[in-house]
Amino acid sequence: MGVDIDWDNLGFALIPAKEMYVSITQPGAGWDAGVFRPFGPISISPAAAVLNYGQGLFEGLKCQRARDGRLLLFRPLDNGRRLAEGARRMCMPEFPPERFVAAVRETVRRNADYVPPYGKGSLYIRPCQWGTGAVLGVQPAPECTFVVYVSPVGPYFKTGFRPGRFIFMREYHRAAPKGMGNVKAIGNYAATLYPAKLIKAQGFNDCIYLDARQDQYIEEVGSANFFCVKGRTLLTPALGSILPGITRQSVMTLAREVLGLEVREMNVSVEDALHADEAFCTGTATVISPIGTLVLDGREVVFQRGEVGPVTRKLYDLLTRIQLGEEEDSWGWTMSVE
Ligand code: PLP
Ligand code: COI
Repeated sequence: MGVDIDWDNLGFALIPAKEMYVSITQPGAGWDAGVFRPFGPISISPAAAVLNYGQGLFEGLKCQRARDGRLLLFRPLDNGRRLAEGARRMCMPEFPPERFVAAVRETVRRNADYVPPYGKGSLYIRPCQWGTGAVLGVQPAPECTFVVYVSPVGPYFKTGFRPGRFIFMREYHRAAPKGMGNVKAIGNYAATLYPAKLIKAQGFNDCIYLDARQDQYIEEVGSANFFCVKGRTLLTPALGSILPGITRQSVMTLAREVLGLEVREMNVSVEDALHADEAFCTGTATVISPIGTLVLDGREVVFQRGEVGPVTRKLYDLLTRIQLGEEEDSWGWTMSVE
């Protein structure tokens, strides 16, 4: 391969690739055709709505190199649709989901050297949409920018597929009912920086947020959705103020249709989780990350004696094998880039 990257030690940190895609929309003119440019700074006004008022969204998806060399995306149209829904909520013009997929595929093609070798990691694809036009009052930007850039990545948590330590967050909420928790708005992530700093200093992988109304039901991890297993039932928080994860939806389908589990989207209480047999979180970056230890107000629960539970392992194997083109994909989830 033509790039000088230590493929054996990839973490989740930016390794700039070669090219990025940029498209701009002007009032009344729609999105332009877009251009590919070397990855690097873009120039925007200090009065841009994204800088002043957080009018911005992002997406995250991955491309994997299969054993036979094919480059496989996972459910890219779903990311495109989620971005378009977010754009409506944030008063930005929708970038058409089919064009989103085309832009993602071409960006991967042009940066194919940066897709890690089989089994060494993946190419993380970061589409963004920002209100880049200048405003002074709080209003939608007159110009928006859509960008796709990529970076090779390894595991999001240093623990990878080993069980990690997670803690219920008591001091902060991530999102409010009727707010923007269900949208991949950039500001949601700014809100998690300080809580994450506090708990990471205590050796936790991440924290699990609770609902802002009763402080009793599980919402999600700052970067992933939450699941727990009780017998033959898989429980996950119902949609509302959480991000509708594409991995979450895939895991529910696999659990129902392949493993024959009962899947319940519901109000999952802290006590439900503490009495579960297994727990894990899901996301593009985190894939399926087992939760080994869960802490609430100093009370500590260890699942499966700190080992990965059998349901978590089966779901992980199924999902990752489908993503690598090694398991039958009955749902048409993978898409080849060539
Ligand atoms: N929840 C949050 C807050 C996230 O940032 C993500 C990551 O995108 C997820 C859940 C998981 O979503 P997905 O599976 O679509 O990556
Ligand atoms: C993802 O899983 O793609 C995410 O966006 C999570 C995180 C990197 C913010």
